[in-house]
Amino acid sequence: MLRFTTAGESHGESLVATVSGMPAGVTVEQEFIDRELWRRQKGYGRGGRMRIERDAAHILSGVRHGKTIGSPIAMVLANNDWKNWTEILPVEAGDATKHKAVASPRPGHADLAGSLKYDFPDARYVLERASARESAARVAAGAMAKLLLRALGVEVASHVIRVGKAELQRPTTWDEIAALQLKDEVLLNCVDAESEAAMKAEVDAVLRTGDTVGGVFEVVVHGLPPGVGTHANWDERMDGLLAQAVMSLQAVKAVEIGRGVTAAESVGSEVHDAIGYDGEGFTKFSREHNNAGGIEGGISNGEDVVVRGYLKPISTLRRPLGSVSFETREPVKAAYERSDVCVVPAAGVAAEAMVALTVARLMVEKFGGDSLREMQRNFNGYCEQIRAY
Ligand SMILES: Cc1cc2nc3c(=O)[nH]c(=O)nc-3n(C[C@H](O)[C@H](O)[C@H](O)COP(=O)(O)O)c2cc1C
Repeated sequence: MLRFTTAGESHGESLVATVSGMPAGVTVEQEFIDRELWRRQKGYGRGGRMRIERDAAHILSGVRHGKTIGSPIAMVLANNDWKNWTEILPVEAGDATKHKAVASPRPGHADLAGSLKYDFPDARYVLERASARESAARVAAGAMAKLLLRALGVEVASHVIRVGKAELQRPTTWDEIAALQLKDEVLLNCVDAESEAAMKAEVDAVLRTGDTVGGVFEVVVHGLPPGVGTHANWDERMDGLLAQAVMSLQAVKAVEIGRGVTAAESVGSEVHDAIGYDGEGFTKFSREHNNAGGIEGGISNGEDVVVRGYLKPISTLRRPLGSVSFETREPVKAAYERSDVCVVPAAGVAAEAMVALTVARLMVEKFGGDSLREMQRNFNGYCEQIRAY
């Protein structure tokens, strides 16, 4: 089974990602992993922290001579900011007077619930792990999954379709979304310049007022054959697994597959994708459109898989909401620590990683194989089998 875990505090020495269950023989491109990490750092509305960090994955194990060897992959991402925190957040007991308390919990953050749960006098340790700095480790793990998927002809990419009230104003294509990933400058990762300018204006407005803004990203999986995931057991459905994977990202509060949200207010004949037999994909079966977002009955149907994540606005506000002091229980403003004001493009990149890891896991389950060659053989055999339909 393909699995991954992460460890690390936001201001600790480093982040750690481990990935196990990767077949042997997948070519690992360091440059590709680091570019994925760079993409997560970008976007208009990021805070000062991203100017301090320059993320890079240091691979410790599971890769030799440029290829995976089937054993667990361990990666370390150093936090440049650690040099400023070694005395504030030491592993050893250290000097308690140097502790930097998060003295009043931020509404919308994990601070209050986490402190109560773990019996902490303030929210410092909760912030350290709830912070989406953790998502950098997910992106490193996701890059490994992407390299495996790529070897099977499957690509994963994202773009931004809403920031605040500004929405992408036109339909888009896979080629446009794929081209976005190659750009060397990232504003809001939107395919349409005019819509992107409106999105930027939304960010500028909250920068002026000391507020924050959310939005919606869309992740697309291209080149996935029909038959990945299953209707047979609730916990193996691809839609359910993707929902959990994307929802687990910090600040994501809703996940949509295809036209999931507007489908609820439409009639069936407007929603479902009529079937034809003039296709040129994995089979000759074709679809009029892709409102299902590439998944029916928890199984991929051969169309692009389309997953949207809805992000709430960041909860650390420069003009903080009311809170209560952990020490005195008196009303005070919520704590403020250097923060992002808009993270929709970055969250999209982290969601690509989660989607890639989920799809790669299901591909490994379906096609098996301890080596890439074995997996490719099984994959090609299956593709040949369904082509005959
Ligand atoms: C890429 C990314 C960056 C984020 N940066 C911040 C930030 O700078 N400040 C902040 O308060 N929250 C930030 N968040 C959101 C918080 O981590 C998140 O709201 C918090 O952990 C509580 O979790 P929840 O919103 O899922 O309930 C970020 C989220 C993402 C995806």
